[in-house]
Amino acid sequence: MGGFNDNGREHWASRAGFILAAAGSAVGLGNIWRFPYMTGEHGGAAFIIIYLIAIFLIGYPLIVNEMVLGRVTQRNPVGAFKALAPKTPWWLVGALGVFTGFVILSYYAVVAGWSLAYVYKVVIATRTAGIDHTDVFVGHISSLWEPIGWQALFMTLTVGIIAAGVVKGIQRWATILMPVLFIILVMLILRAVTLPGAGEGVAYYMKPDFGEVTGRTLLGAISQAFFSLSLGMGVLITYGSYLSPKDELPANAMCVVGIDTGIALLAGFAIFPAVFALGFQAGAGPGLVFITLPAVFAQMPLGIFFGILFFLLLSIAALTSAISLLEVVTAWLIDEKGWHRKNAAICMGLVIFIVGLPATLGYSALGGFSFPGLGTDLLDTYDWFANSIFLPLGGLLAAIFAGYIWGTRKAIEEANKGRTVFALGNWWGFLIRYVVPVLIIVIMAMGIYDSFIK
Ligand code: TRP
Repeated sequence: MGGFNDNGREHWASRAGFILAAAGSAVGLGNIWRFPYMTGEHGGAAFIIIYLIAIFLIGYPLIVNEMVLGRVTQRNPVGAFKALAPKTPWWLVGALGVFTGFVILSYYAVVAGWSLAYVYKVVIATRTAGIDHTDVFVGHISSLWEPIGWQALFMTLTVGIIAAGVVKGIQRWATILMPVLFIILVMLILRAVTLPGAGEGVAYYMKPDFGEVTGRTLLGAISQAFFSLSLGMGVLITYGSYLSPKDELPANAMCVVGIDTGIALLAGFAIFPAVFALGFQAGAGPGLVFITLPAVFAQMPLGIFFGILFFLLLSIAALTSAISLLEVVTAWLIDEKGWHRKNAAICMGLVIFIVGLPATLGYSALGGFSFPGLGTDLLDTYDWFANSIFLPLGGLLAAIFAGYIWGTRKAIEEANKGRTVFALGNWWGFLIRYVVPVLIIVIMAMGIYDSFIK
């Protein structure tokens, strides 16, 4: 492990380095911002149980699928499909992935910018008596230049890490930031669960209410699994391409799933007990983190300190995810177009920043515009296309490719090279050929029906 392969491709320097980088990609805004409010809206523990089933039936098989495609070809998503199915249009699946990475990062950096801004805004918000936290948040996102500045800062950090390379950039920062993230999360949980009245929040979070489960809950759980595990656009093809056949694969994939799910569950324990203990509502939806939580911190002993820690946590989680999105685009330019890493990272960072500007301006200068039929703001529109269409489609096509074109026998054989813990069996082929495609088609159909037809 480590160093370069015969073709000069850089490889992860250690097993932990790869796992932390892939887990860093997975653990992001999806875990700390989206998972808690989705759980809050969809029946608490009932949602969690369905989510776990979705992870097992779709998440794990697809993670393995992507990692294998990357490792066996030693290529970015476009190059991977070209290598396995030359002179066919399958490379377009990889191209869809690269494009999706573009779109997701462009608006992800907007929300990450809000988070960075809140590392210091939360101080003002918690210090000013009688302040309206909705006004603070809306005021921030609807001002013209401030959010753009934070978005630019966040993109600069992302570009800096990617420009430094796989081991010296991605692996190095994942190895530093992931333990920091974990320590901060544990501190926040200890604070939250020791507040008087915290038990009510724990009960709310842990009590399964299957009465709230509907088709939308299933849809929510599956799309959450995709987003949270960074699936469907080739992040794991790209990260897998920096593995060698001597490296463990099936168990590494399981570690990544475990860390991602664990952190999402823990984030709920940092949030709900505090929200309930201080008498707030948990069903605030997307505003939970930026509006409810600052209000909670304002009332909490040492709230300023924990507020800063929380937004630091959110920003770190966002950064290790953002780098994985930029790496896909960068690897494509390096492999396929012969670009230098630094040039690729800087140019693409700039272009993605510009593509993201309308999503930021959607709350200020472009406030009136919305996509016909969706009726939401621009950031939600980016998000809808990425999460409801591009990611599931990418995952579906990659599963069909492995299941019916390349063949699951080959894939299983490749995945098992270098394994030391457990081997992938035929059950994986069954999931990839039948279960994954059927479930994805159903959720895509439901998502489109929900948004346009109903
Ligand atoms: N998984 C990250 C999160 O939960 C987001 C993310 C990073 C992502 N890379 C991705 C989502 C690729 C989909 C595809 O915040």
